[in-house]
Amino acid sequence: MENIGKVPVHVSIIMDGNGRWAGERGLDRSAGHIEGVESVRACTEAAVEYGVKYLSLYAFSEENWGRPKGEVSSLMSLMFKSMLGELQNFMDNGIRFMVLGHRDRLDSSLNEAIDACMEKTASNSRLTLIIFLSYSGKWDIMQAARRYAEDVLRHPDKADELLEMEPDGFSRYLVTAGIPDPDLIIRTSGEMRLSNYLLWQAAYSELLFSDVLWPDFRKREFAEALEAYSKRDRRYGKVK
Ligand code: FPP
Repeated sequence: MENIGKVPVHVSIIMDGNGRWAGERGLDRSAGHIEGVESVRACTEAAVEYGVKYLSLYAFSEENWGRPKGEVSSLMSLMFKSMLGELQNFMDNGIRFMVLGHRDRLDSSLNEAIDACMEKTASNSRLTLIIFLSYSGKWDIMQAARRYAEDVLRHPDKADELLEMEPDGFSRYLVTAGIPDPDLIIRTSGEMRLSNYLLWQAAYSELLFSDVLWPDFRKREFAEALEAYSKRDRRYGKVK
């Protein structure tokens, strides 16, 4: 790819369209999710290749718990299997793996496997791959506000300082503490909304909407998105 001038540090993707991809082929929705894992692999490889440092993926929202039980459990077991199956690949390619979200809602066996995978890959530094699981932006801001209020109550000596905190300080209470905000957020399948994803962190993200369904979004589409990003003019509310 020749035209990628500036590479985003953090690319985030709302993976959408698995169900439609399967429906178009007369297959069960789960076939779309299974094929979607191949796109996860392809985009992860591309991110490593292009020097993206953080790739985050919206895999399951808080709202997705309301899907039919069978679909929820097949998505969770797909997550489980994919994570274990990719562990060696993460180690071979210097990938740090993280899962962020409302983890209390996940099965304890899945949580244990996630912890083990996160610990094992913690010192890898080529790419951080973040899976947002049982995540929603409003939930994240709420849990941050709760922990912030607890800090204020627990440390009366520091209350004044805490109450004067700037947004960057508050960011440390979000589950994404220490992770740079996404430079580029891609949503596939032609839908044009954020759907309760990274509401705080997306304040100055560039948004890119692709008509391609997630199972068809592979290396070429990822590279094209990076190319489109490199042509964007980011001003952060200022004049250049
Ligand atoms: C949206 O498509 C996709 C999801 C809700 C699940 C995405 C999950 C995966 C691709 C598997 C994740 C695996 C790993 C290892 C991260 P949809 O079902 O909403 O599609 P539709 O809008 O066409 O119905």
